[in-house]
Amino acid sequence: MTRLANKVAIVTGAAQGIGAAFAHGLAKEGAKIVVADWGDGTETANSIIRANGAALYVKTDVSSASDVKAMVAATLDKFGSVDILVNNAAIFSKIKARHFTQISSEEFDQVMAVNVRGTFECAKAVSETMMKQGHGKIINISSGTAFKGSPNLMHYVTSKGAVIALTRCLARELGDYNVTVNAIAPGLTMSDGVLSQPDFSEAYIESNLNARALKRRQMPSDLVGACVFLASPESDFITGQTIAVDGGNVMH
Ligand SMILES: NC(=O)c1ccc[n+]([C@@H]2O[C@H](COP(=O)([O-])OP(=O)(O)OC[C@H]3O[C@@H](n4cnc5c(N)ncnc54)[C@H](O)[C@@H]3O)[C@@H](O)[C@H]2O)c1
Repeated sequence: MTRLANKVAIVTGAAQGIGAAFAHGLAKEGAKIVVADWGDGTETANSIIRANGAALYVKTDVSSASDVKAMVAATLDKFGSVDILVNNAAIFSKIKARHFTQISSEEFDQVMAVNVRGTFECAKAVSETMMKQGHGKIINISSGTAFKGSPNLMHYVTSKGAVIALTRCLARELGDYNVTVNAIAPGLTMSDGVLSQPDFSEAYIESNLNARALKRRQMPSDLVGACVFLASPESDFITGQTIAVDGGNVMH
Protein backbone atom coordinates (compact mmCIF):
# COMPACT_ATOMS: atom_id res chain seq x y z
CA MET A 1 0.00 0.00 0.00
CA THR A 2 1.42 3.38 -0.99
CA ARG A 3 1.41 6.18 1.57
CA LEU A 4 -0.52 8.73 -0.51
CA ALA A 5 -3.03 6.54 -2.36
CA ASN A 6 -6.04 8.56 -3.58
CA LYS A 7 -4.50 11.87 -2.47
CA VAL A 8 -4.34 14.81 -4.84
CA ALA A 9 -1.22 16.99 -4.75
CA ILE A 10 -0.57 20.31 -6.44
CA VAL A 11 3.14 20.98 -6.94
CA THR A 12 3.99 24.47 -8.17
CA GLY A 13 7.12 25.02 -10.23
CA ALA A 14 7.22 21.31 -11.09
CA ALA A 15 8.22 21.71 -14.75
CA GLN A 16 11.84 21.11 -13.76
CA GLY A 17 14.33 20.79 -10.91
CA ILE A 18 13.33 20.22 -7.32
CA GLY A 19 9.61 20.65 -8.12
CA ALA A 20 9.76 17.87 -10.72
CA ALA A 21 11.51 15.62 -8.15
CA PHE A 22 8.72 16.37 -5.63
CA ALA A 23 6.05 15.60 -8.25
CA HIS A 24 7.66 12.25 -9.12
CA GLY A 25 8.23 11.36 -5.45
CA LEU A 26 4.63 12.10 -4.44
CA ALA A 27 3.34 10.23 -7.52
CA LYS A 28 5.41 7.17 -6.58
CA GLU A 29 3.53 7.14 -3.26
CA GLY A 30 0.22 7.09 -5.14
CA ALA A 31 -0.74 10.77 -5.25
CA LYS A 32 -2.39 12.27 -8.31
CA ILE A 33 -0.31 15.24 -9.36
CA VAL A 34 -1.11 18.69 -10.70
CA VAL A 35 1.96 20.32 -12.21
CA ALA A 36 1.41 24.08 -11.88
CA ASP A 37 4.14 26.04 -13.62
CA TRP A 38 4.38 29.08 -15.84
CA GLY A 39 6.88 27.12 -17.91
CA ASP A 40 6.07 23.95 -19.86
CA GLY A 41 5.20 21.18 -17.38
CA THR A 42 4.03 18.71 -20.03
CA GLU A 43 7.06 16.44 -19.70
CA THR A 44 6.76 16.13 -15.90
CA ALA A 45 3.05 15.26 -16.21
CA ASN A 46 3.57 12.88 -19.14
CA SER A 47 6.41 10.99 -17.45
CA ILE A 48 4.19 10.42 -14.39
CA ILE A 49 1.40 9.16 -16.65
CA ARG A 50 3.87 6.89 -18.53
CA ALA A 51 4.78 5.36 -15.15
CA ASN A 52 1.07 4.55 -14.61
CA GLY A 53 0.43 7.55 -12.38
CA ALA A 54 -2.16 10.30 -12.77
CA ALA A 55 -1.11 13.85 -13.58
CA LEU A 56 -2.36 17.09 -15.08
CA TYR A 57 -0.33 20.07 -16.24
CA VAL A 58 -1.96 23.47 -15.75
CA LYS A 59 -0.06 26.49 -17.00
CA THR A 60 -0.05 28.83 -14.01
CA ASP A 61 1.69 31.99 -12.90
CA VAL A 62 1.52 31.65 -9.10
CA SER A 63 1.65 35.42 -8.69
CA SER A 64 -1.64 35.76 -10.59
CA ALA A 65 -4.66 35.25 -8.32
CA SER A 66 -6.88 34.47 -11.32
CA ASP A 67 -4.41 31.89 -12.74
CA VAL A 68 -4.16 30.21 -9.34
CA LYS A 69 -7.96 30.14 -8.89
CA ALA A 70 -8.36 28.58 -12.35
CA MET A 71 -5.62 26.02 -11.59
CA VAL A 72 -7.34 24.92 -8.36
CA ALA A 73 -10.70 24.74 -10.20
CA ALA A 74 -9.06 22.54 -12.88
CA THR A 75 -7.65 20.32 -10.11
CA LEU A 76 -11.07 19.88 -8.49
CA ASP A 77 -12.67 19.30 -11.86
CA LYS A 78 -10.19 16.58 -12.86
CA PHE A 79 -9.45 14.87 -9.53
CA GLY A 80 -12.29 15.94 -7.19
CA SER A 81 -10.20 17.18 -4.25
CA VAL A 82 -6.94 18.74 -3.20
CA ASP A 83 -5.15 17.21 -0.22
CA ILE A 84 -1.56 18.42 -0.61
CA LEU A 85 -0.06 21.69 -1.82
CA VAL A 86 3.69 22.04 -2.36
CA ASN A 87 4.55 25.71 -2.81
CA ASN A 88 7.82 25.25 -4.67
CA ALA A 89 7.68 27.79 -7.53
CA ALA A 90 10.08 30.64 -7.08
CA ILE A 91 12.26 33.07 -8.91
CA PHE A 92 15.63 31.69 -7.94
CA SER A 93 18.10 30.28 -10.42
CA LYS A 94 17.63 33.11 -12.93
CA ILE A 95 18.58 35.77 -10.36
CA LYS A 96 21.87 37.50 -10.99
CA ALA A 97 23.82 37.67 -7.71
CA ARG A 98 24.74 41.25 -6.83
CA HIS A 99 25.14 43.71 -3.98
CA PHE A 100 21.79 44.89 -2.65
CA THR A 101 22.48 48.46 -3.80
CA GLN A 102 22.37 47.14 -7.37
CA ILE A 103 18.94 45.48 -7.05
CA SER A 104 16.17 47.54 -8.66
CA SER A 105 12.87 48.19 -6.89
CA GLU A 106 11.07 46.43 -9.76
CA GLU A 107 13.16 43.27 -9.42
CA PHE A 108 12.71 43.27 -5.63
CA ASP A 109 8.93 43.50 -6.09
CA GLN A 110 8.88 40.76 -8.73
CA VAL A 111 10.77 38.29 -6.51
CA MET A 112 8.44 39.03 -3.60
CA ALA A 113 5.36 38.74 -5.85
CA VAL A 114 6.28 35.22 -6.98
CA ASN A 115 8.08 33.78 -3.94
CA VAL A 116 5.93 35.24 -1.17
CA ARG A 117 2.62 36.37 -2.66
CA GLY A 118 2.56 33.31 -4.95
CA THR A 119 2.80 31.10 -1.86
CA PHE A 120 -0.01 33.11 -0.24
CA GLU A 121 -2.21 32.97 -3.38
CA CYS A 122 -1.88 29.18 -3.68
CA ALA A 123 -2.48 28.56 0.04
CA LYS A 124 -5.53 30.84 -0.06
CA ALA A 125 -6.95 29.14 -3.15
CA VAL A 126 -6.71 25.59 -1.72
CA SER A 127 -7.72 26.49 1.82
CA GLU A 128 -11.49 26.62 1.17
CA THR A 129 -11.45 22.97 0.04
CA MET A 130 -9.03 21.85 2.76
CA MET A 131 -11.02 23.60 5.50
CA LYS A 132 -14.28 22.08 4.24
CA GLN A 133 -12.87 18.56 4.08
CA GLY A 134 -11.16 18.95 7.49
CA HIS A 135 -7.69 17.91 6.40
CA GLY A 136 -4.84 19.10 4.24
CA LYS A 137 -1.06 19.37 3.99
CA ILE A 138 0.69 22.52 2.85
CA ILE A 139 4.45 22.35 2.31
CA ASN A 140 6.26 25.59 1.57
CA ILE A 141 9.78 25.69 0.15
CA SER A 142 12.03 28.14 1.97
CA SER A 143 15.85 28.11 1.79
CA GLY A 144 18.85 27.70 4.07
CA THR A 145 19.91 31.17 2.88
CA ALA A 146 17.21 32.68 5.12
CA PHE A 147 19.04 31.31 8.20
CA LYS A 148 22.47 32.30 6.93
CA GLY A 149 21.61 35.74 5.55
CA SER A 150 23.55 34.80 2.43
CA PRO A 151 24.92 37.94 0.72
CA ASN A 152 24.21 39.24 -2.81
CA LEU A 153 20.70 37.80 -3.09
CA MET A 154 18.91 40.09 -0.65
CA HIS A 155 15.48 40.03 -2.32
CA TYR A 156 15.55 36.24 -2.66
CA VAL A 157 16.81 35.62 0.89
CA THR A 158 14.23 38.06 2.29
CA SER A 159 11.47 36.28 0.37
CA LYS A 160 12.53 32.92 1.81
CA GLY A 161 12.56 34.36 5.35
CA ALA A 162 9.02 35.56 4.72
CA VAL A 163 8.05 32.02 3.65
CA ILE A 164 9.07 30.77 7.12
CA ALA A 165 6.96 33.48 8.83
CA LEU A 166 4.03 32.80 6.48
CA THR A 167 4.28 29.08 7.30
CA ARG A 168 3.94 29.81 11.02
CA CYS A 169 0.93 32.15 10.56
CA LEU A 170 -0.83 29.71 8.24
CA ALA A 171 -0.21 26.81 10.62
CA ARG A 172 -1.95 28.71 13.45
CA GLU A 173 -4.85 29.89 11.26
CA LEU A 174 -5.48 26.45 9.74
CA GLY A 175 -4.86 24.29 12.82
CA ASP A 176 -8.54 24.25 13.79
CA TYR A 177 -9.28 22.67 10.41
CA ASN A 178 -6.68 19.92 10.79
CA VAL A 179 -4.56 21.38 8.01
CA THR A 180 -0.82 21.19 8.69
CA VAL A 181 1.58 23.74 7.25
CA ASN A 182 5.33 23.18 7.26
CA ALA A 183 8.37 24.33 5.32
CA ILE A 184 11.49 22.72 3.94
CA ALA A 185 14.71 24.75 3.77
CA PRO A 186 16.97 23.14 1.14
CA GLY A 187 20.68 23.74 0.95
CA LEU A 188 22.37 24.48 -2.38
CA THR A 189 20.93 21.77 -4.64
CA MET A 190 22.07 20.69 -8.09
CA SER A 191 18.72 21.43 -9.76
CA ASP A 192 18.30 22.18 -13.48
CA GLY A 193 18.27 25.89 -12.66
CA VAL A 194 21.48 25.80 -10.62
CA LEU A 195 23.29 23.67 -13.20
CA SER A 196 22.44 26.16 -15.95
CA GLN A 197 23.50 29.26 -14.02
CA PRO A 198 27.20 30.22 -14.33
CA ASP A 199 27.01 32.23 -11.04
CA PHE A 200 27.06 28.86 -9.25
CA SER A 201 30.76 28.23 -9.97
CA GLU A 202 32.65 25.12 -8.89
CA ALA A 203 34.38 27.23 -6.20
CA TYR A 204 31.02 28.43 -4.85
CA ILE A 205 29.60 24.90 -4.82
CA GLU A 206 32.75 23.58 -3.06
CA SER A 207 32.68 26.25 -0.35
CA ASN A 208 29.02 25.53 0.29
CA LEU A 209 29.65 21.82 0.46
CA ASN A 210 32.52 22.25 2.93
CA ALA A 211 30.17 24.02 5.37
CA ARG A 212 28.08 20.85 5.68
CA ALA A 213 28.35 18.03 8.20
CA LEU A 214 27.77 15.68 5.24
CA LYS A 215 30.24 16.87 2.63
CA ARG A 216 28.72 16.04 -0.71
CA ARG A 217 26.59 17.67 -3.39
CA GLN A 218 22.89 17.90 -2.65
CA MET A 219 20.61 16.49 -5.36
CA PRO A 220 16.86 17.20 -5.85
CA SER A 221 16.20 13.59 -4.79
CA ASP A 222 17.67 14.39 -1.34
CA LEU A 223 14.63 16.60 -0.67
CA VAL A 224 11.92 14.13 -1.63
CA GLY A 225 11.85 12.13 1.63
CA ALA A 226 11.06 15.21 3.74
CA CYS A 227 8.34 16.28 1.30
CA VAL A 228 6.67 12.86 1.25
CA PHE A 229 6.88 12.70 5.06
CA LEU A 230 5.26 16.15 5.46
CA ALA A 231 2.54 15.12 2.95
CA SER A 232 1.78 11.83 4.69
CA PRO A 233 -0.20 10.98 7.85
CA GLU A 234 3.13 10.23 9.59
CA SER A 235 3.52 13.99 10.15
CA ASP A 236 -0.05 14.70 11.27
CA PHE A 237 1.01 16.28 14.60
CA ILE A 238 3.79 18.45 13.12
CA THR A 239 2.87 21.97 12.00
CA GLY A 240 4.45 25.40 11.73
CA GLN A 241 7.93 23.89 11.44
CA THR A 242 10.79 24.44 9.03
CA ILE A 243 13.00 21.42 8.34
CA ALA A 244 16.48 22.15 6.99
CA VAL A 245 17.43 19.49 4.44
CA ASP A 246 21.01 20.46 3.61
CA GLY A 247 23.42 17.81 4.87
CA GLY A 248 23.77 19.61 8.20
CA ASN A 249 24.72 23.13 7.13
CA VAL A 250 22.34 25.36 9.08
CA MET A 251 21.20 23.96 12.43
CA HIS A 252 18.35 25.59 14.31
N1 LIG B 1 18.38 24.67 -5.97
C1 LIG B 1 18.77 25.20 -4.83
O1 LIG B 1 19.97 25.29 -4.53
C2 LIG B 1 17.75 25.70 -3.83
C3 LIG B 1 18.18 25.97 -2.52
C4 LIG B 1 17.25 26.44 -1.59
C5 LIG B 1 15.92 26.60 -1.97
N2 LIG B 1 15.54 26.32 -3.24
C6 LIG B 1 14.14 26.50 -3.59
O2 LIG B 1 13.64 25.30 -4.16
C7 LIG B 1 12.63 25.62 -5.12
C8 LIG B 1 12.98 24.99 -6.45
O3 LIG B 1 14.26 25.39 -6.85
P1 LIG B 1 14.95 24.90 -8.20
O4 LIG B 1 16.41 25.01 -7.98
O5 LIG B 1 14.35 23.64 -8.66
O6 LIG B 1 14.52 26.11 -9.16
P2 LIG B 1 14.42 26.20 -10.71
O7 LIG B 1 14.72 27.63 -11.05
O8 LIG B 1 15.24 25.13 -11.38
O9 LIG B 1 12.87 25.89 -10.98
C9 LIG B 1 11.90 26.78 -10.56
C10 LIG B 1 10.60 26.40 -11.23
O10 LIG B 1 9.60 27.33 -10.82
C11 LIG B 1 8.92 27.82 -11.96
N3 LIG B 1 8.40 29.16 -11.71
C12 LIG B 1 9.12 30.28 -11.48
N4 LIG B 1 8.29 31.31 -11.34
C13 LIG B 1 7.02 30.83 -11.46
C14 LIG B 1 5.74 31.43 -11.41
N5 LIG B 1 5.56 32.75 -11.23
N6 LIG B 1 4.66 30.64 -11.54
C15 LIG B 1 4.80 29.31 -11.75
N7 LIG B 1 5.99 28.69 -11.84
C16 LIG B 1 7.10 29.46 -11.69
C17 LIG B 1 9.95 27.78 -13.08
O11 LIG B 1 9.33 27.78 -14.37
C18 LIG B 1 10.68 26.49 -12.77
O12 LIG B 1 10.06 25.36 -13.35
C19 LIG B 1 12.54 27.13 -5.16
O13 LIG B 1 11.53 27.55 -4.26
C20 LIG B 1 13.89 27.57 -4.64
O14 LIG B 1 13.86 28.85 -4.10
C21 LIG B 1 16.42 25.89 -4.19
